[in-house]
Parts: sequence; C-alpha cells; structure tokens
Amino acid sequence: MLRQSWRRVTAPTVLLRAHRKSDLDALARHYGTDKSSQHHCYTRLYQRHFRTRRLAVRSVLEIGVGGITSFEGFETTAGGQSLRMWRDYFPNAQIVGVDINEKDVRGTRIHFERGDQSDSAFLQEVVRKYGPFDVVIDDGSHIGRHINASYAALWPSLKPGGIYVVEDLPVAYHPRYEGGPPGTPGTAVELIKAQVDNAIRRNEESIGVVSFEPTVAAIHLYPEIVFFKKKA
Ligand SMILES: C[S@@+](CC[C@H](N)C(=O)[O-])C[C@H]1O[C@@H](n2cnc3c(N)ncnc32)[C@H](O)[C@@H]1O
Repeated sequence: MLRQSWRRVTAPTVLLRAHRKSDLDALARHYGTDKSSQHHCYTRLYQRHFRTRRLAVRSVLEIGVGGITSFEGFETTAGGQSLRMWRDYFPNAQIVGVDINEKDVRGTRIHFERGDQSDSAFLQEVVRKYGPFDVVIDDGSHIGRHINASYAALWPSLKPGGIYVVEDLPVAYHPRYEGGPPGTPGTAVELIKAQVDNAIRRNEESIGVVSFEPTVAAIHLYPEIVFFKKKA
C-alpha cells in the first residue's frame, strides 16, 4: 500500500524514447527529479556543462539520493530519481549515490552507500571503493558545514578536468540551514568565495607564497548552483 503511494508521487510524467537519452531534461521529467525544467531548471545548466563529455564520463558521485524520506512518520527507502537520470545520460558511467537514509536504489550501474556527507572517514571509504570521479554533485543536506566537509573530502578525488557541483545555494541565507546574511561563516557561498582565491593564477612575488598550486580551473556561478572545474 505504501509502495503504491510512492508510485503516485514519483510516476513518470512523460514517456521516454531511446533517442532522447541525450536530452537531460526529458530524462529528468521522466524520472521525476526536481532538477528538471518543471522545478529548479538545473538540467539546462547541466546540459551546458556536461554535453561534450557525456560519453567520456566514467564515474559520477551524487550526495543526496532523494525520494520521500518520511512517509506518515516512517523513513522510506524510495528515491534515486536523479541517479537513474545520470545512469541514462552517461551511458558509460558508474553512478554512486550517497544518502544518510537507507535507499533501495541499487541496480545496473547504480551503487548506493549509506552515510553522512559530513563524515570524512565515510567519504574516504566511498572514494577508496569507487573513486576517482569525473563528476561530483552535492544535493544533500544543503547545510554549509556539511557542504564544506564534503568538498574538503571529495575535491581531491575529482579527476583532473572533472566537475564538482553544489546545488540549491540560496539556502545559504536561511537560518534553518545554519545560514544567514552575506558573510555568515561556513556557508556554501563562503566556500565559493574562498575558492575564488584558488582559481586565480598568481606568481610567488605577488603574494609572497612559493608553493601554491591552484587546482580550480574555472568557477561557473549561477543564481542557485555552482560548477567548479578542476584543472586538467
Ligand atoms: C534534495 S534530496 C536529493 C534529491 C536527488 N538528488 C534528486 O535530484 O532526485 C536530499 C537528500 O539528501 C539526504 N541527506 C540529508 N542530509 C544528509 C547528510 N548529512 N548526508 C547525506 N545525505 C543527506 C536526504 O536524505 C535526501 O534524500
């Protein structure tokens, strides 16, 4: 009975034809992730950054598997909408989902590990098992402290030229997510500001530092989402 209720919520709203697997938004709507043009509209931006590497990507890690985490007071194992979208969009990739709640999403090329994105030992174990990654997406708790911890643990596991994405940036200003006005320490927005220093090439005379190796090749910042590209 519970399962039927999940179906009602997550049922595909559009039919998907095989040739549309390169159409990320069609996939997003098919599987019901809120990244689609019906919700956050992230697919347009993902398509812009991922289109040319679709066939080359071999490994994707997404923090936050989603679905209904609580149904009438019970935790559920539903979810995986975006993992299925990535599985179809990247036909040569292994897709790894991480969530603090148990999720019943394992399947062809989809792997799942349960754990807390702020637990660096847990993330190191995920990296040891599945890394390095071409793409890392943080769509987990959206709490700055967690986003920063995940970035610190996972940025080194990103392959050269890889892309690290953080979604839902506006909650950085929301107290419910430990956010606050601009300048509040520890938010995702402050992480982005810090990475600006990491992205700009400089020489040792300019700042008096000899052994500084910037690893960020580019930062693409949009109103709700940021893409960090690692140096090739
Ligand atoms: C917005 S949903 C993810 C949606 C999914 N990526 C999609 O697009 O379909 C956020 C998920 O993050 C998980 N989450 C919350 N806190 C977490 C944490 N500290 N570590 C890992 N996952 C967490 C929640 O259980 C929830 O499933």
